[in-house]
Amino acid sequence: MKVIRTTNHQEMSKIAANIILDRIKSSSHITLGLATGGTPIQTYAYLAEDYLENQTSYQHVVTFNLDEYIGLPKDDPNSYHYYMHQHLFSKVNIPRDQTFIPNGLTEDLAAECETYEQKIQQYNGIDLQLLGLGKNGHIGFNEPGTPFDQHTHIVSLTRSTIQANARFFGTVEEVPKQAITMGIGSIMESKEILLLVSGKEKNQALNKLLHGRIDEQFPASILNNHENVTIIADEDAI
Ligand code: GLP
Repeated sequence: MKVIRTTNHQEMSKIAANIILDRIKSSSHITLGLATGGTPIQTYAYLAEDYLENQTSYQHVVTFNLDEYIGLPKDDPNSYHYYMHQHLFSKVNIPRDQTFIPNGLTEDLAAECETYEQKIQQYNGIDLQLLGLGKNGHIGFNEPGTPFDQHTHIVSLTRSTIQANARFFGTVEEVPKQAITMGIGSIMESKEILLLVSGKEKNQALNKLLHGRIDEQFPASILNNHENVTIIADEDAI
């Protein structure tokens, strides 16, 4: 794993945005895997800024988001559909039918997981996967104990994740208890992975990822087995 240490969150985000832009500009078709949460917001802001200044085109870009809560309507401000529209999709010229996010409102969730995974395959897999890191080592919503070979599936969120994400909701009770997430198997099949880690509260998790053993109880540890991972971490996190 290649580790880039930055002095602050802004620099981390700028480097991440530049890597993403480089891959978009140098390929005729690209499939991006996208993350949500607090960590990549500034990265998306830099992509939006670049679009205003340079009109980098997203016409040939396809995106798959890592996850979505079960039970939130797409226009709920806490849904990841809303998040992606707000932070990226409404700011660049990506055709809306080239953006995929799991549907957490469908009646047949199992079929949704299967279709989502098939769709990723139809686009020949993910070229560049952006990831954040949960304090408990989760990636996407793959909580500790998730089998490393699992693909898109339904998860029950752990108490620590519900509490961590309560900051975006009014109360802990309002945080959905379940989500659909790409699995660790899906993530590991990506050709390239970019993991962003920011802030003191991620320090322990990053340390475990860099120096601990590979263990299903710490999902991100599997990234040590991927041959093309870049971690960009700010000074507080590393
Ligand atoms: C969330 C998301 C992940 C995200 C992680 C870290 O629950 N499902 O995709 O990477 O947890 O979030 P944050 O960046 O807000 O710390």
